[in-house]
Amino acid sequence: MLSVIEQVFSSEEAHGFCQQLASSAWVDGKLSAGSQAASVKTNQHLDDRIDLARDIGDAILQRLGAHPQFVSAALPNRILPPKFNRYTGGGQYGAHIDSSIMGLPGGGQIRTDLSATLFLSRPSDYEGGELVIDTRFGAQDVKLEAGDLVLYPSTSLHCVNPVLSGARICSVFWIQSLVRDNQQREILYDLDQSVQSITLDKGPENEDVNRLTGIYHNLMRCWANT
Ligand code: NI
Repeated sequence: MLSVIEQVFSSEEAHGFCQQLASSAWVDGKLSAGSQAASVKTNQHLDDRIDLARDIGDAILQRLGAHPQFVSAALPNRILPPKFNRYTGGGQYGAHIDSSIMGLPGGGQIRTDLSATLFLSRPSDYEGGELVIDTRFGAQDVKLEAGDLVLYPSTSLHCVNPVLSGARICSVFWIQSLVRDNQQREILYDLDQSVQSITLDKGPENEDVNRLTGIYHNLMRCWANT
């Protein structure tokens, strides 16, 4: 399942990030790809050790940590620091599946359960550049407004279409979820969304709301790994 989370940042905030990033030192994206992915990747990325990448990355993680829809959909356990990439002049990323295990800065590793792309450029800033994700229901093209984010299972085959003109700047990052199984995570997300909506309707003291909240937590207890 793809989850689109709109306006994690306002369009103005995203544009501000783009302007700061535009003058940074971008390097060949092949350096950050796994061996299979490197052969199909023609984009640029930012050295994630520079202060600007760290600062904007921290702002993204801070915003998402307080975002109920993101937390509900991802059930994050650990998140890799966001990376930044830029596609221009025909740059693309052919079909691939993201690496299953990625190293954390300073040591340790995470299992990548979910992949996230936060669109920073406005769709009108570039031609092409759709993120195409294979799903159970066929391929879906994703090209979002600046500040919107898409979350998808890292088990998905995906590609980025060539950027024919302009520049596409995005942030990408990976999440190890408390719930590894995509189907179980989706059930919890659906249940949580329903509990939120019934709570608004009936109030937090309602007997059914309490029972459903209990079911959510009991399922989480069965399925979560910390
Ligand atoms: Ni990828």
